[in-house]
Amino acid sequence: MEIFVVPTASATGSVAAGILAAVVRSKPDAVLGLATGGSPLPIYKALAEHSVEMGAVRGFALDEYVGLPAGHPESYAEVIRREVTVRLGLDPANVAVPDGGAPDPRQAAADYDAAIARAGGIDVQILGIGHNGHIAFNEPGSALDSRTRVEVLTERTRQANARYFASPDDVPTQCITQGLGTIMEARHLLLVVSGADKAEILAAALQGPVSADCPASILQRHAHVTVVADEAAAAKL
Ligand code: GLP
Repeated sequence: MEIFVVPTASATGSVAAGILAAVVRSKPDAVLGLATGGSPLPIYKALAEHSVEMGAVRGFALDEYVGLPAGHPESYAEVIRREVTVRLGLDPANVAVPDGGAPDPRQAAADYDAAIARAGGIDVQILGIGHNGHIAFNEPGSALDSRTRVEVLTERTRQANARYFASPDDVPTQCITQGLGTIMEARHLLLVVSGADKAEILAAALQGPVSADCPASILQRHAHVTVVADEAAAAKL
């Protein structure tokens, strides 16, 4: 595992974007795993500054809420469209997000898992970490070999994400998330973390026991992990 500690959140974006730009230069149709939340936003902003052609890049989002109306600005489909597809000039036809509006979300989850495999797997998976150690929406207790599936969000995660919605009650209660087993099949995991509020959980994930109690701890078992953290988030490593 390689760990880069940089002064600021914006610098995490620059370092991670440099890694991604190099991947895309050597493989123009690379498959990128796309994360939402606040932590990866500096990456997408920094990557837009690189003169790298992204038109052939393929992307798979990590997760999506279940039950938001199509086009809801906080659906991850919209966030990815705005922050990634448009900003970086990806072809929308090459970018997939789990279908949280599907009549049968379980089937949609299984189909999504199969689509990742059909694409040849993910070259670089961008990840953030939740305060309870979740990655994507794999909440504590998620099986370490879980696949893409429907999950119930914890109250803590709903509260953390309430900042994006008009009222906390508007945060969906369910999601479709890539599983921990799915994420572990990506060839390179790129975890980006910023802020003092993540220091404790980052240390637990990277240095504590590997356990479903802290889903991000599974990263310790992956052969190619890069962590980019700002000084505040790295304070307890
Ligand atoms: C969200 C997302 C995760 C993200 C995490 C942390 O709920 N589903 O993919 O990594 O929570 O988000 P943030 O970076 O905003 O703290």
